[in-house]
Amino acid sequence: MKEKLENIKTLALKELETVYSLKDLEEIDIKFLGRKGELNEIKKNLKDLPNEQKPIIGGLANQIADQIQSIIKEKHEILYEKAINEKLEAEKIDITLPGNFIPQGKVHPLTATVNEIVDIFQGLGFSLVEKQNSPEVETEHYNFDMLNFPPDHPAKDMQDTFYTQIAPNIVLRSQTSNSQIHEMEGKNPPMRVISPGRVYRAETVSSRKNNLFHQIEGMVIDKDITFGDLKGVLNEFIRIYFGQTRPTRFRTSYFPFTEPSAEIDVQCIICQGKGCRTCSNSGWLEILGAGMIDPNVLKNVGIDTDIYTGFAFGMGVERLTMLKYAINDIRLFFNNDVRFLNQF
Ligand code: DAH
Repeated sequence: MKEKLENIKTLALKELETVYSLKDLEEIDIKFLGRKGELNEIKKNLKDLPNEQKPIIGGLANQIADQIQSIIKEKHEILYEKAINEKLEAEKIDITLPGNFIPQGKVHPLTATVNEIVDIFQGLGFSLVEKQNSPEVETEHYNFDMLNFPPDHPAKDMQDTFYTQIAPNIVLRSQTSNSQIHEMEGKNPPMRVISPGRVYRAETVSSRKNNLFHQIEGMVIDKDITFGDLKGVLNEFIRIYFGQTRPTRFRTSYFPFTEPSAEIDVQCIICQGKGCRTCSNSGWLEILGAGMIDPNVLKNVGIDTDIYTGFAFGMGVERLTMLKYAINDIRLFFNNDVRFLNQF
C-alpha cells in the first residue's frame, strides 16, 4: 500500500513538472485529487486495513495529497498569470489607429449669417425682440397700415404679398418691419432692438429672388436720435461684417415708414469699385434700407414725437451672405445640397 502511494506521488510530481496549461493542470488535479482519484480511493478503503496500518497509510495519503495540492496551487498561479498576459497581448488596442468617421452637422450659412449679425448688433447695445413680437403670419394692419402704407395706396404693390385664405386681411408678412409696431406697442422708449426672421413675397423665383427669404430689422427710438446716429451705427456694422472699413454710400430712397429714407450701398467687394458683373458695373452694392422713423408711425402707436425720434433699418440676409461669400444663386440656400452646405 505504501508503495502504491509512493508511486502515485512520483507519477503526480512527474506530470506536474511538464504541465504548461491551466487546462492540463485541471486535469491533473481531477486525476490525482478528485473524488474518483486513486488517492481518494485509498482513503475510502482505509476501513478495510488492519487497525495499526490505518493511521500510517491514512497519514501518508493525506501528506501526499497536501503536497500535490500545494504544487498545483503554485503552478496555477504561474500559469494563470501567463494566460492573462497572453490574453492582454492578444487583445491589445492600438490607440494610434484613426477613429470611425462620424458625419458632423453644420450650421446653415443663412443661420450663421443671422447669428453673426445678431452678435454684431448685440455688441452695439441692441437686444433681440421677443418671438411673439415678430410673427410670420400677420394682419395687413401690422404689415402695412401701422407702418404708414396708406390703404389702397400703390405703395402696397411695392411688395407682392401673399394673401391667405384664413381671413381677407391675413398675410404672410412681406417684411420684418411688422415687428417694429409690435415692439412699440408693447414697450416704451428708449428702445434698441433687432428682429431677424422669414419673410414672403410672390416673386418669380430666379437666381436673385426667392418667395421666401430672411431679413433682419433694426430699430432705435430715444430722445435726440438723429440721422448721424443711423449713419454711425450702420457704418460700424458694415465695418465689422465685411471685416474692414469700406466706402459706403447713403442714397435717398422712399419707404412709407421712414422719412427721410435711404438705401445704403457698400463699395463692391468683388471689384473694389472698379465695376464688375456682381455690381452691374456700378461699383456699388446695395445692402440695406433705412431711415428716420416717420412721425406718423410713432403717432400710430402713441409715442410722443415731440420727445422721441428714431431710426430703423432692414437688411436681406441672403443678399448679405451672397455678397460675403461670392454666392451667385439664391436658390442654393434652399436646395439642401450638402456639397454646397458643406463648404461653410
Ligand atoms: N422693409 C423694407 C423692405 O422690405 C426694408 C426696410 C427699409 C426696413 C427701411 C426698414 C427701413 O426698417 O427703415 O424692403
